[in-house]
Amino acid sequence: MKKSSLSFTSELPRLSDLGEELLLIYDEVLPKKSTTFRKWMQSFPLKYPVKAGEDLKSVARFPQHISRIVDLCQNVSNRKLTIVVVGGGSVGDFGGFVASILKRGVRLVQMPSTWLAAIDSAHGGKTALNVGAAKNQIGTFYPADKIFLVKSLLLSQPEPRAFEGFGELLKISWIVGGPLWKQLSREKEINANVLWKYLPAAIQAKNKVVATDPEEKKGLRHILNLGHTVGHVLEAYYKLPHGVAINYGLDFSLRWSLQKGIMSRKTFEGLQQAPVSGYLLSPARDCLLSTKASDLKEFRHLLLSDKKKTKAQTLRFVFIKKPGACIIREVSVDDILIELCRQKEEELHG
Ligand SMILES: NC(=O)c1ccc[n+]([C@@H]2O[C@H](COP(=O)([O-])OP(=O)(O)OC[C@H]3O[C@@H](n4cnc5c(N)ncnc54)[C@H](O)[C@@H]3O)[C@@H](O)[C@H]2O)c1
Ligand SMILES: [Zn+2]
Repeated sequence: MKKSSLSFTSELPRLSDLGEELLLIYDEVLPKKSTTFRKWMQSFPLKYPVKAGEDLKSVARFPQHISRIVDLCQNVSNRKLTIVVVGGGSVGDFGGFVASILKRGVRLVQMPSTWLAAIDSAHGGKTALNVGAAKNQIGTFYPADKIFLVKSLLLSQPEPRAFEGFGELLKISWIVGGPLWKQLSREKEINANVLWKYLPAAIQAKNKVVATDPEEKKGLRHILNLGHTVGHVLEAYYKLPHGVAINYGLDFSLRWSLQKGIMSRKTFEGLQQAPVSGYLLSPARDCLLSTKASDLKEFRHLLLSDKKKTKAQTLRFVFIKKPGACIIREVSVDDILIELCRQKEEELHG
């Protein structure tokens, strides 16, 4: 798989560093958040603003988008065209998909504007569209030629958003362990500056995992789903931001790994004692505590629509033995629901 070049900059790059003829696909909120961005985007000859979110990734709406984009680019040759995508994960998934199919593939620059995209989704080359409520059913592997991590753009997010990106940082640091987890476990507080500091190491760690199985043919890349099986259910059902739901999903995986004897109590307590683990106690936990039998029925449906399911009623679930050692086991959807109920009881009654 093609390697993306990575640049860390404090300010938005010069247009001449991006490519020859540029089409900017950007989240329409960004010019409202930053005057610098507003001025910068005005110098792009071709622009396509989009409204971020899962609707943008809807395959049903895609024909309208692509017709307008084809019209915009009709006088540009595919050899010269570069699509510059600025936004969070939804804009990145959409814009990456467009670049991968427009004129049979044009150059792509990704410039993430959310922590979640900067740490995770802009890297690894996956693009995606949703089919109805089923997420990411269509997509391509299409790594960006260049990825720009722009500090001022990321800092234009409200500070609480750092909490959402933190789950992805914690996920990758538990997957790879070693110095990344060692250093992160000592942090007292998570804020935007701390996330910025960890970006290079987190991206390098994700790229290392992706390199073992770039197009998900061997099942090794699946490990990046740590915390995501249950996280996705809570995200969809309670309409939580992805990162908030993933924080709970990680906590769930940790507790289930202990329950199954995959993780020792000593390791579990060590992880719980790290100051950063306090950030896992997310609002998703409150949602879960109010779960009723009728909710579980819907959870079952959502788990079964997860595209990573294997045979009829089983899923490949990522457990954690210790930081740097994750284990994938096939579990049934019922096993997950039973464990959710067990954790709820444990939480309520100790
Ligand atoms: N391709 C991958 O490998 C991969 C991996 C993980 C997640 N994803 C996808 O990423 C998406 C979630 O990512 P996300 O949370 O970044 O999504 P998003 O693009 O929906 O952004 C979330 C919100 O933040 C706003 N926003 C963006 N930048 C901002 C800024 N600088 N300041 C203020 N507000 C800003 C957006 O308008 C939106 O309301 C999902 O669609 C998920 O499927 C993809
Ligand atoms: Zn994620």
